[in-house]
Order: sequence, then structure tokens, then C-alpha cells
Amino acid sequence: MVVRVLRLGHRPDRDKRVTTHLILAARAFGAVGTVYAGKRDLTLEETVRDVVDDWGGDFSLEYSDSWRGVIREAGSRGSVIHLSMYGLPIQDVIDSIRDDPLDKLVVVGGAKVPGEVYRIVDWNVAVTSQPHSEVSALAVFLHELFEGSELDASFKGAKLRVRPQARGKLVEEVRDGV
Ligand SMILES: C[S@@+](CC[C@H](N)C(=O)[O-])C[C@H]1O[C@@H](n2cnc3c(N)ncnc32)[C@H](O)[C@@H]1O
Repeated sequence: MVVRVLRLGHRPDRDKRVTTHLILAARAFGAVGTVYAGKRDLTLEETVRDVVDDWGGDFSLEYSDSWRGVIREAGSRGSVIHLSMYGLPIQDVIDSIRDDPLDKLVVVGGAKVPGEVYRIVDWNVAVTSQPHSEVSALAVFLHELFEGSELDASFKGAKLRVRPQARGKLVEEVRDGV
């Protein structure tokens, strides 16, 4: 099962940090790529490219001017999950979502999510019914979906790797890229 993320309604002037964090969370927690909609943002794309270049993995970032098209295309081949505080509690539906072997598109909103999104997806899923953030909702969703296996992922082709420390920071350069 391959998981991609669709970020709706990116606004370069207001959302640069949160969209960057969302995309980096998607990558760190096991998604293979993100598509973002809204306004195209070349600075965002460069930032993510630089991170992937340094820290490895086959993560893709694409822009689409049609979120509807991305959802329809993903829905024709797999399942589409929209994260929303108004959806069904994650703890009630995550087993069914995980048991479905089809590829997944996880949709997260921005400032205003069009009502149509709620109707055309397969699942509207809430990570608590409290308002928080697309970044926290996505991280918890992926962690529950992958049952923690994503924490042991290795990122092929990395130039940099953290050597975990009880205290302090140690980053080493990877020579073989494995
Ligand atoms: C800051 S919220 C804004 C939502 C906006 N008010 C709307 O029209 O739905 C941005 C995104 O965070 C995610 N989100 C926030 N709280 C959530 C929750 N409790 N469960 C799942 N997703 C959540 C949703 O994807 C939402 O679209």
C-alpha cells in the first residue's frame, strides 16, 4: 500500500511554514509523496527538494491546479481519506482503512475546505473532534495507519544521517548513500 498526501489551498504568503512542515511530516512518517494545490510556490518546492537531497528517500512533490482531478484520479485506483475534525473518529475506522490494500491518498485542508471534498472522498476521518492542525492530524494518522513501522524507515541515498545521542547533536555524512 502506497500513501500520498494532497494538501489543499496552499497560500505562499501565509502557509509557507505550515505547508513545508506538512510535507516534511508526510515524508518522515512514510508517505511516498505530496501533491499540493492552491497557488504554486517554487520556493517551497526548492526547500523540499533540498531536504530530500540531503536526507534521502524517493519522496516526490508535485503541484496541481486541480485538486478535484487529483482526488478523482486517486479514487479511481485506490482509496481517498480526508482528515477533518468533523469526520469519524480515527480509532473507529483505522483498522478498516488499513485492511484495505489499495493505495491511499490522504487529503488535508488549509484555511477553507470546500464542501465537495467531504462528499467525494471514501472516508472523512477525525483525529480527535477538536480543532488543531493539518500537520498533527497527518502525523497521527500515518502513525496509526503504519502502526509505528514508519519509525524504523531508512532513507536511501541520504547524504546526511543523524547518529542518535542521549545528549547533543551528531550528524554524519553518509559516503555510500545507503
Ligand atoms: C487549521 S484546519 C482548518 C480547517 C477549516 N476551518 C475547514 O474549513 O475545515 C486545517 C486542516 O487541519 C486538519 N485538521 C485540523 N484538526 C483536525 C482534526 N481534529 N482531525 C483531523 N484533521 C484535522 C484538517 O485537514 C483541516 O482541513
